[in-house]
Amino acid sequence: MPGRLFPVGGPVSERDIVDREDFISSIESRLADGQSIMLAGPRRIGKTSIAYEVLRRLKERGFYTAAVDFFRLSDKREFAVSLINACLENRTGIRRTLETLKDRAKSVAGLAKLTVKFRDLEFSVDFLRDDPDEIALLDYALDLPEVLANRDKKNMVVLFDEFQDASRVAGRAEIYKKMRSHFQNHQNVSYLFLGSKEGIMNSLFGNRKEAFYRFATVLPIPPILEESWTEYISQKFAEQHIKTDEETIKEILQRTGGHPQDTMLVCSEIYYALLETGEKTVTLEYVRIGHDRALLTLAQVYDEILDEIGQRVSAREVLKRLAAGDKVYAKGNPNETKRVLDVLVSKAIIEKKGRGSYKFVEPMFQEYILREF
Ligand SMILES: Nc1ncnc2c1ncn2[C@@H]1O[C@H](COP(=O)(O)OP(=O)(O)O)[C@@H](O)[C@H]1O
Ligand SMILES: [Mg+2]
Repeated sequence: MPGRLFPVGGPVSERDIVDREDFISSIESRLADGQSIMLAGPRRIGKTSIAYEVLRRLKERGFYTAAVDFFRLSDKREFAVSLINACLENRTGIRRTLETLKDRAKSVAGLAKLTVKFRDLEFSVDFLRDDPDEIALLDYALDLPEVLANRDKKNMVVLFDEFQDASRVAGRAEIYKKMRSHFQNHQNVSYLFLGSKEGIMNSLFGNRKEAFYRFATVLPIPPILEESWTEYISQKFAEQHIKTDEETIKEILQRTGGHPQDTMLVCSEIYYALLETGEKTVTLEYVRIGHDRALLTLAQVYDEILDEIGQRVSAREVLKRLAAGDKVYAKGNPNETKRVLDVLVSKAIIEKKGRGSYKFVEPMFQEYILREF
């Protein structure tokens, strides 16, 4: 989202990606070297931002790149079309090559001229029909990165975002088997897989019974260092001639725990509050206002998380106890409590600190539970 001082929501561009330089260049060089990579982590921690920046750099170095986001897709056909378009864009410079072809196909001459461009890619004109053979289309799509890279003597990197959604899009687990059977023969393509359901992703890539077992190197996403945030925040405010000091920035980070999107959001709300009053200094009072406003915006996100955990009373009870810092096993059925804790850990809502002691990954989520329940 260009134009915002502190961009929130969706991938952010290089200058607003705080503290990921080493991580980005490590992923870049591994992919360039032909290694495939998997990153799993909860939503809103910056996976897509990292991946887009990596792809941008590789493209600049002459690599072919393609990105498919399973979150946006609803069936096999859409998946195939999205992958084909993403691949062909490297040649055509057009985002939706298939749709463009289809339009031109209305005139026979126009079509001939265009398909000539793809003849070497074994492209079938049948794919332009409204009801193409779905399986043939998908098989074609899954090999296209390699075919294209080969023909054009390029190396290619393909990004699959929200990869755990592939089973929803393309029908259960078979899609993973199918993908793997194609990808494992690719010599000129490396793959970058992202997923926000860590449990599913880790099992897909780490369980020997699963199709993508050992297909990619799994890299943990590092946290953003406090110093990096401090530097970024003070600089950003300074650009707008707004003063900050160590104490107020510390307070911001204390309240957000340095969580990528929460921190951006609080800073953004502080900035808007300052714009309203015309003041030019971030004080503790503004931090409090920014934090409260950010919490209002986050309510929707947090309610969705609560929905995912389930409507069981015990889940809410355990969360309340955790948020309040009470002994988590003090009440209720211990087995049920254990089950809830496991779910919360697997969804990266809490982290284990020691025996029977846990910490919220997002302090703002903790605050939300304390205030609302
Ligand atoms: N490295 C970062 N530095 C600053 N803000 C970040 C960073 N990564 C993510 N964010 C914030 O989080 C939001 C979501 O980032 P995104 O890359 O879409 O995360 P994900 O793909 O993990 O859901 C961004 O819009 C931005 O506000
Ligand atoms: Mg994402």
